[in-house]
Amino acid sequence: MYVVTLSTLDAVYGDVAAQQRERYWRLVQDFQVRYGPGVVRVFRAPGRVNLIGEHTDYNHGFVMPVALDRDTLVAVRPRFDTLVRLANVEPEFEAVEFEIAFQIPPAPRGHWSNYARGVAQRLSQEMDVPLRGMDALVDGSPPWGVPRGSGLSSSSALSVALALALVALNELSIPWQRLARLCQEAEWYTGTRGGIMDQFNALMARQGYALFLDTRPRPDGTYLLEYARLPQGYALVIADTGVRHSNVLGEYNHRVAECRAAVALLRPYFPNITHLRDVQHVPWSTLESLLPEVTTLADLDRKGVPVEDPPPGVGPEDPLYVRARVRHVYTENRRVMQALEALQQGDVDGLGRLMVEAHISAREDYQVSCPELETLVHAALEVEGVAGARLTGAGWGGSIVALAREDAVPQLEAHLRARYREVHGREPQIFVCRSAPAGCEVLWETV
Ligand code: GLA
Repeated sequence: MYVVTLSTLDAVYGDVAAQQRERYWRLVQDFQVRYGPGVVRVFRAPGRVNLIGEHTDYNHGFVMPVALDRDTLVAVRPRFDTLVRLANVEPEFEAVEFEIAFQIPPAPRGHWSNYARGVAQRLSQEMDVPLRGMDALVDGSPPWGVPRGSGLSSSSALSVALALALVALNELSIPWQRLARLCQEAEWYTGTRGGIMDQFNALMARQGYALFLDTRPRPDGTYLLEYARLPQGYALVIADTGVRHSNVLGEYNHRVAECRAAVALLRPYFPNITHLRDVQHVPWSTLESLLPEVTTLADLDRKGVPVEDPPPGVGPEDPLYVRARVRHVYTENRRVMQALEALQQGDVDGLGRLMVEAHISAREDYQVSCPELETLVHAALEVEGVAGARLTGAGWGGSIVALAREDAVPQLEAHLRARYREVHGREPQIFVCRSAPAGCEVLWETV
């Protein structure tokens, strides 16, 4: 029989450790019913809320996420062959099997197992050894799982939990920062061209802190990061619109293409440019004069401006609004630096103002907001004691994050609910973020 060691759960979940213990207990029992009795190991990886620094990571810019106590668990047992048997406690995610190899055939687009396939493939390629497989049961179910499609990075929580399991079961020795990079590349397998923020945070976060990360790798492959303590007496309140845009993947890749097109347009003037980060020191007026308002891949092709590695799904005639997109990335990087300083100096109002500016920039220049997000951000800012609010994550639906004095939280929740019901006729999901540590193995005792 297994018992969860409360010390680990206490450290991760604080005063909800007892409820979490039930969750872990149920998962291990389900695992044993499905795969038979014997030893089981459990790994967890958290979702995140990004305080500020949106759509900067694939431009090698700055981000500042916080790990949530909403996480994805995976219970596993090693196998002596290369087979992965993968199941999920939520029955709508069908159980599958695949062999680990250097090239793993994908399941149809959108299938949840592609996160596992991507991780297994990328890790085998990297380690250059055949990895042993595993029996695995995933639990990202409510209420403790990372809500899906909410801009809180449930997909990276899944990838990172699986990666931690494969690394441990294969006794691989790999630095966590390197693993974060591999998990980022592994997610490209699913079709998005995401940055490294989510995976890095899931592996490197610290409880009680925001993680300031410079997403530009240094020549030795490591990253510059800094932990900034979250303000005392304030809460991060997350409100989920429930809006799930059907084409986030397409829209997201479109933004990545716009940034790459801008890099191509700037290359004649800045020959060493690889990412927008490389022009962060240039006055905006100079950049502005070099960037057209709108262009297309076909147009750039005609002008002999090669766009490197355009992400999948972007058509040659799709409009690319390069100037506004660059203005967002450029100003957002500055705001993240200022936000770090504000956090370090305990300047909560300053941080709040930056969050509001970031939201406006994401709406006007990056165009990733939607009416439901606007309702929630506006409503949050009407409440006394709210320092700032903004959309968080990729956008096009998902959640907002509000920085609120602890004593203002009940009032904030009530106001958000009332306004959202009034305007959109339904309830948003609201929860107060309890920050959590990075992904880890949760240890059990056998008695
Ligand atoms: C998604 C991606 C991240 C990041 C954000 C936007 O969450 O996975 O890498 O680009 O969108 O900031």
